[in-house]
Amino acid sequence: MCGIVGILGKQPVALQVVDALKRLEYRGYDSAGIATLEDGHLVRRRAEGKLRNLELKLSQAPLTGAIGIGHTRWATHGRPNETNAHPHATAKLAVVHNGIIENFRELKEELESKGVVFETQTDTEVVAQLVTDEIAQGKTPLEAVAATLPRLRGAFALAFLFEGETDQLVGARQGAPLAIGWGEGEMYLGSDALALAPFTDRVSYLEDGDWAVLSRSGAVIRDKDGHPVDRPVQTIPPGSFVASKGNYRHFMAKEIHEQPEVVGRTIAHYVDFASGTVVLPELPFSFKDLKRLSITACGTAYYAGLVAKYWFETLARLPVEIDVASEFRYREAPLDPGELAIVISQSGETADTLASLRYAKAQGQHILSVVNVPTSTIARDSAIVAPTLAGPEIGVASTKAFTCQLAVLLSLAIGAARARGHLDEAGEKRLVDALVGVPGLMTEALHGEAAVEGLAREVAKAKDVLYLGRGTSFPLALEGALKLKEISYIHAEGYAAGELKHGPIALIDEDLPVIVIAPCDAVFEKTVSNMQEVAARGGRILLITDRQGVAQSAMDTLGTLVMPDCDPVVAPLVYAVPVQLLAYHTAVFMGKDVDQPRNLAKSVTVE
Ligand code: F6R
Repeated sequence: MCGIVGILGKQPVALQVVDALKRLEYRGYDSAGIATLEDGHLVRRRAEGKLRNLELKLSQAPLTGAIGIGHTRWATHGRPNETNAHPHATAKLAVVHNGIIENFRELKEELESKGVVFETQTDTEVVAQLVTDEIAQGKTPLEAVAATLPRLRGAFALAFLFEGETDQLVGARQGAPLAIGWGEGEMYLGSDALALAPFTDRVSYLEDGDWAVLSRSGAVIRDKDGHPVDRPVQTIPPGSFVASKGNYRHFMAKEIHEQPEVVGRTIAHYVDFASGTVVLPELPFSFKDLKRLSITACGTAYYAGLVAKYWFETLARLPVEIDVASEFRYREAPLDPGELAIVISQSGETADTLASLRYAKAQGQHILSVVNVPTSTIARDSAIVAPTLAGPEIGVASTKAFTCQLAVLLSLAIGAARARGHLDEAGEKRLVDALVGVPGLMTEALHGEAAVEGLAREVAKAKDVLYLGRGTSFPLALEGALKLKEISYIHAEGYAAGELKHGPIALIDEDLPVIVIAPCDAVFEKTVSNMQEVAARGGRILLITDRQGVAQSAMDTLGTLVMPDCDPVVAPLVYAVPVQLLAYHTAVFMGKDVDQPRNLAKSVTVE
């Protein structure tokens, strides 16, 4: 949430800063800003709204400094207007910030009592004023930063630029990610390596508590106790961050259509085609010794975990406790040492998920993370990393990362079932064959896009939508509702189909489309009964099922999307496709900004 960048260059850096900010815009796009030094003096340009507004300002009033910091904002404290846009500045410095300064009120009161007048409602301005106050007391800029950092509570990453200091940038990390990029006579700071990819492939990641002083000839990094430390310089493999829309109108469309390829790539990483077995990462424990497993994640990744609960419990007979990370981290769940905690995250930076990981680690649990960004904090903090090979996901609404997470989790569940003696060779081969068939089935599901588009026009008329499903289709119903509401802003709820009569049935009328996700599996008949209950009350059903399901349900529906026949175990991966397409086309039809929906950000590094 919020992207920050800093560049110490040889030429004017404003355009490079903007270029980096474009790559960080997925972290927030409420406002953007940049500060440079011109003849040693601080100059800023800031603009409310998307980055293009800042670009427009820069084209009218260019900046020429060869050192600069930039920011793209996801508002936490203070409205997303120009005044609250970063960088925040005093006569002595400019600062950009990602995260939250939790004790900003008390610090602000302290400064106000000394006569400091604040211009913004942000927590960040407190940092600018605190450091300025220290400088006013005679400290150098670096001494002032060193004195200020220990006073800040919360999770944050900061980058400072000082009046008159044309060869010095300062970065600090506590909880929110920050990377240093190493160039030839140029140095960079960025929220992630993606931002720095156009400039350098050599990157060091700061650890929590670190702060770094950059000059054009390198960086000195200190830990929280002020001791100089080395953080390894990693080379980012070429092509890691290739992200373009190709011929698609939106990243989300491209990412939905990429699924057969990236899910196939992910499956290939976890199965041995020749023997029909899964191949898991090396594990420092055996699934056979586990008594239970915990899964934590947020949002869409949480729903992937919820599907996995069904798989681990039915296939491997392994009890699963699952919770959203924002609850798990604070409810002091008793966890047995030596058991396994799985965390799932596309970005690998989600603050609550990271905190849950650290909680489980502190209880002596093994940590296995299912992550899409291998260089992320969650990946680096995990003993075992099970990568999803989805490639960069740029659309804010997660699509291909979700199905890749499902592919990894199903592979793990199959491996666990084998290790626990609940799956013989033939059983494992049957499941692996089903998994290997998924990319082909997804391609078939994508061929039904025109039909989805037609139904999206109906959904677009609704004020509210209900999604129903049973078994593994229940988490998919939750995911469908999330996808629709986040990009179309239509209110949607997902329910376990059996829960309908316990409350939500009161909502049913002819204005409420009910989207039923129901492959013809063991619980299909039960779901048909629930559909009958909806129909009997004048509700309009949109059914997503297979050919057998169409024949067996014989329902009069608003529309039916017919999916290819598949083994029920892999149905969540295949049925995710129409669910995503329906949300996408509804939002496009309504003229919404599908790749950057309002109020959202791709990487949620605040709690
Ligand atoms: C919804 C969506 C979010 C994320 C959630 C977790 O489409 O993308 O709900 O799934 O913010 O993010 P990660 O997976 O990066 O931890």
